[in-house]
Amino acid sequence: MADGLQAGSEGQVRAAVREHYGQIAERGGGGDGCGCGPDCCSPGSVVQIDTITGLYEDPEVSNLPAEVTDLSLGCGDPVTLASLEPGQTVLDLGSGGGIDCFLAAAKVGPAGRVIGVDMTPAMIDRARRNKAKVGAENVEFRLGEIEHLPVADNSVDVAISNCVINLSPDKAQVFREVYRVLKPGGRLAVSDIVTDGPLPDAVKQDLAAWAGCVAGALDVTDYVAAIEAAGFSDVTLTRSYWDQQMIDEAVAELSPEVVGQIRLAEERGIEPRTAVFSAKVTARKRG
Ligand SMILES: C[S@@+](CC[C@H](N)C(=O)[O-])C[C@H]1O[C@@H](n2cnc3c(N)ncnc32)[C@H](O)[C@@H]1O
Repeated sequence: MADGLQAGSEGQVRAAVREHYGQIAERGGGGDGCGCGPDCCSPGSVVQIDTITGLYEDPEVSNLPAEVTDLSLGCGDPVTLASLEPGQTVLDLGSGGGIDCFLAAAKVGPAGRVIGVDMTPAMIDRARRNKAKVGAENVEFRLGEIEHLPVADNSVDVAISNCVINLSPDKAQVFREVYRVLKPGGRLAVSDIVTDGPLPDAVKQDLAAWAGCVAGALDVTDYVAAIEAAGFSDVTLTRSYWDQQMIDEAVAELSPEVVGQIRLAEERGIEPRTAVFSAKVTARKRG
């Protein structure tokens, strides 16, 4: 069984995730989609521009068109975390509508380039249309899985990702792939959902909760161990907790069975606010 996989076979998880994000891409965001952002991954939320600017430290986000910001589904600001420099080659794992690719493109400038990889065809179509709207010549979007990256060995300076690796049924393979494509000394800068301790089985077995960025989340210790096992050094992880209102909104959208499990956990003294959280993670390929 692949890393963290409990919600069904690897193929079932991937199909559920692809269908979920395909529907969001076709709608152009909003609706009953998984809008990460500060209210990360609560199906039913519409991500508004004010929550986007709250999520992103980079003021440049306000200059992006609504077609891009409406499709922001992340849980952090990996571009700011990455401290990009002009001329670098950047890879975005699970690029969605392209928001982080366009922010990264402005940082690396015309001498640099950005590659966004996503496995959902409708999301890639949407990102390519957004690229034309933004006029970001140094960005390209490739259809593919982050477990099997369509990217050459040792070709990337910085790999970023925003609220995606938790969705993978094989996270160890994702980190091995990122290690393969990074140049020696290249860096990883990721925002992702992780947990403090294992999630209840009922949550892990819920495919909707997996697609909503909860059930697939790894325990924080296992997440760091998977990065180190791929060969990375200098791994750092910073926790950001959601506020109680965001948790309440997310919980309101979950199935009664999952909510029941959460209430049981609360009775046992586990606080959801700190049990499932967004983390900023950095690491370096040995060089
Ligand atoms: C929560 S959204 C985040 C999108 C984007 N990073 C953002 O911040 O707006 C997850 C995205 O990852 C893609 N995705 C999920 N699992 C993937 C995988 N195993 N390989 C490639 N893409 C994947 C989905 O299609 C979706 O576009």
